Amino acid sequence: MQTINTLDSLRDNLAALRREKGRIALVPTMGALHAGHMALVEAAKKAADSVVVSIFVNPAQFGPNEDLDAYPRTLESDSAKLVEFGVDLLWAPSAASVYPKGFATKVRTGGPSEGFDGAARPGHFDGVALVVAKLFNQVQPDIAFFGEKDFQQLAVIRQMARDLDFALEIIGVPIVRDADGLALSSRNAYLSMDERSAALALPRALSIAAEAIRVGGDVQTITEAATADLLAAGFARVDYFALADASTLEQLHDFDGRSARLLAAAKIGKTRLIDNIAI
Ligand code: PAF
Repeated sequence: MQTINTLDSLRDNLAALRREKGRIALVPTMGALHAGHMALVEAAKKAADSVVVSIFVNPAQFGPNEDLDAYPRTLESDSAKLVEFGVDLLWAPSAASVYPKGFATKVRTGGPSEGFDGAARPGHFDGVALVVAKLFNQVQPDIAFFGEKDFQQLAVIRQMARDLDFALEIIGVPIVRDADGLALSSRNAYLSMDERSAALALPRALSIAAEAIRVGGDVQTITEAATADLLAAGFARVDYFALADASTLEQLHDFDGRSARLLAAAKIGKTRLIDNIAI
């Protein structure tokens, strides 16, 4: 596996990869790789002839009081995992090369970015869309893979790619969970043992609420009860626990049988967790 830090070298290596192998898949990440990321890599390997993984902790998607500095940076062990999984190229640019002095362009997202995490984390999805648009331009992949764990992010990226005419396929990969149900996330590393066990209330509440909605229960009553359960289990704050249309991310107050997703974000200790489940 080649590890590349400059755009010129990336372009040379991509040209060779495309010539020698064919279709290129991109798996954008912020590193601290876990089995959820490796599921993206496995899916990418099946769908394309070569796989590029990017690792870049993107300052533009962190708010002023968020965890940019604390975010785990584990490039050496990440790189070893990618070698083991047969990744062709690791794109690991510096922040100064992605956002050089004088960088002034912004991407302003709308539609699926507006509620939920978009409301709780102002500017977050604009920062995600900006860096993903840059990564798409830099790598020019035929296909790109994102985890359904960040379900709203996936919808925002699909919308951005459609609106800005990026000619690539975007694939969502199902959430990978630990055996006890907790969705894998790089931020799980922040949890103490007690917090981690209390955090299991989140996937449990989603799965109970999803079943209750599927059998026709009242959405508001169910989501309010789930919120109360999370607070009782030790979560300090619930940003949202809500039903949404799976493609527009518009909030749904009734379940009418269309493709819907139950989405939740809640804070335990200092850690904000998100999770979701299909209805
Ligand atoms: O999901 C992530 O890890 C990030 O938001 C992404 C898509 C790599 C953009 O920085």
